[in-house]
Amino acid sequence: MFVREFGTTPDTVWAAPGRVNLIGEHVDYAGGLCLPIALPHSTVVAVAPRTDGIVRLRSTAGEPWNGRIDDTAPGRPTGWAAYPAGVLWALQDRGGIDAVFVSSVPIGAGLSSSAALECVLAAAMSPDTDRTALAAACVRAENEIALAPTGGMDQAASLLASEGHALLIDSSSGRTRRVPFEPTAHGVELLVIDTRAPHRLVDGQYARRRAAVERAARRLGAASLREVTDRGREGADAVRSLKDDVLRRRAWHVISEIARVRLAVTALEAADFVELGRLLTASHLSLRHDFEVSCPELDTAVEAALTAGALGARMTGGGFGGSAIALVPAGETPEVVENARRLAAERGLPEPAFATVTASAAARQVS
Ligand code: GLA
Repeated sequence: MFVREFGTTPDTVWAAPGRVNLIGEHVDYAGGLCLPIALPHSTVVAVAPRTDGIVRLRSTAGEPWNGRIDDTAPGRPTGWAAYPAGVLWALQDRGGIDAVFVSSVPIGAGLSSSAALECVLAAAMSPDTDRTALAAACVRAENEIALAPTGGMDQAASLLASEGHALLIDSSSGRTRRVPFEPTAHGVELLVIDTRAPHRLVDGQYARRRAAVERAARRLGAASLREVTDRGREGADAVRSLKDDVLRRRAWHVISEIARVRLAVTALEAADFVELGRLLTASHLSLRHDFEVSCPELDTAVEAALTAGALGARMTGGGFGGSAIALVPAGETPEVVENARRLAAERGLPEPAFATVTASAAARQVS
């Protein structure tokens, strides 16, 4: 495609993965802990630098974009090109590029197709830059150019995760740690259920949740809800004493979810997938009832998985559509798939798509 579009060959080809978060949802912007894995699905870029400041971006999934880096500003360009153009802007790369993107990360499925798009270009353009710094540049692209007020979990996963491991991210210190995640070695599979309910982070709900979390922290006289969590019982009592019912439930989700991540790490270190499953389901209930970011499609996928024998299931990512994950005893996946299809059909919901996934590698050069 690069040769056809530009009449030359690319200098380099890189791939960067999408992610699913095992647990630790809607806590990254509160300084919390999250535990994603990188997916086997990835976005590939073929790229050649230019010297005349012109940027030409092509994708199989969207309109071509031609411009200059000076055309990049908050809210510009719009559409998919905002992410790669935003990365060049954040890296202050003024030379220009020709680039072609092809992706196997389902778009709009809550599996971080946009982070994969950012991270693959950042890694290809700055292979020698520290990955944590690259992740920060990608977050700036997303927040300041694409105007999606997301935290940093997705970019960290795409740039720092590793095969056979989940990545424990401490969003308050920026530190990360690898935690073994090899369910298949223990007779368990991780199933992703893409509900095909369109998921949008830009529609204001995500921003409203983030604002509520920040307001709750201010009311409790803390810089973040992480700080409140670290006050232990005293912090939990303070959250319980919040008068505003909505704010109290939002904050309770965050502090209880951070606690669940800690327990999940302990469970994974002991390869206790029954306990991990219990925590996933508890996380879903908290996201559904206290944080209110689930939707009928996600609740149906979780219910179908649990009634067909999953050890645990939850929505993953920002919510309001997108994907759920289920931990399923090996051999029982066909039943879970069948049940999720049947229940969705019965309720008049879109037919979900399914993938069994393993923890895969972060951004890497492929040729
Ligand atoms: C989206 C954001 C992340 C994170 C999750 C919710 O994926 O991009 O930063 O906030 O939602 O956990």
